[in-house]
Amino acid sequence: MRLLIAHATVVVSGTKIAAEIGTSRSEVWRLVQQLRDLGVDIAGHPSTGYSLKSMPDLLLPDMLAPQLHGTIFGRHIHHYYKIGSTNAVAMEAASAGAPEGSVFLAEQQTAGRGRGAHQWHSARSVGIYCSALLRPALPPSEVLILSLAAGLAVHSAVQEIDSRVIPDLKWPNDVLIDGKKFCGILTEMNAEVTRVRYVVAGIGINVNQSSFPADLQTVATSLRLATGTEWSRVELCAALLKSLDREYRNLLENPDAASSILRRFQERSSSVRGQQVEIEENGGFEGVTDGLDGRGFLQVRTPQGVRTVLSGTVRPR
Ligand code: BTN
Repeated sequence: MRLLIAHATVVVSGTKIAAEIGTSRSEVWRLVQQLRDLGVDIAGHPSTGYSLKSMPDLLLPDMLAPQLHGTIFGRHIHHYYKIGSTNAVAMEAASAGAPEGSVFLAEQQTAGRGRGAHQWHSARSVGIYCSALLRPALPPSEVLILSLAAGLAVHSAVQEIDSRVIPDLKWPNDVLIDGKKFCGILTEMNAEVTRVRYVVAGIGINVNQSSFPADLQTVATSLRLATGTEWSRVELCAALLKSLDREYRNLLENPDAASSILRRFQERSSSVRGQQVEIEENGGFEGVTDGLDGRGFLQVRTPQGVRTVLSGTVRPR
């Protein structure tokens, strides 16, 4: 891919490609077939050579890294055409010592993980499936704030690209448009009681899906379905990682960052205050949302008093 992108306007002979990547022409032919199967539009055949018919919107390190200079995310970008789960890969890499700022991206996930026991629908090259590895010097109790900051990063990245889209944050980690979810965030960590070893912020964004399986149709949307236009995943992913970098640095460096995150989250969420909800936790309870506490947990007013939602699913009633 790197070679074809570098020679985007010309036909590159199979012999040249073979020589440059140190393989045989028949292996080049096999690799080209493989890329075509993955949706890359390549013209040509072994006797003439190959050329890209259009610049692919793939989340390749070569496309993203130049846009991420000066952030913590520009130096260790890993791209997979097909993988089980970028969060699983990132957690394994983290335990093996991968550096902070490592990013794991996939065109397709076969076992995309969602919150709880849910799966994340991860069709090929239409969404962003991204896991960012962080090693914050924070106690585990502050990781929820970091996870809320990831939602804010998605919010500002989308707005930066199309300011007409007004995303709505749903506690803790969904991002909606017109009541339907287009982004979910799964933050996983490895920690001692007082010290985080590492955090993986896994972000799934429905970008260019034109439809969803029947069971998701009423609850899911994509940026394309919401706006009627195709989005560049590379552009959105770069904006997302830049925005996440800003939020993260701010959180580590600025003592007021946590309260700013809580305030901005509440400003960008229509449901965090004054909404009648049902919580699937501790046998279930109902009440009216009443903002976030200082650690980022949702408060719900019930006839028995204010209760704190720790992890349960929040459903509007
Ligand atoms: C949710 O809303 O339930 C969270 C979904 C998180 C999905 C993303 S896609 C990239 C990363 N890898 C995973 O396996 N999950 C997260």
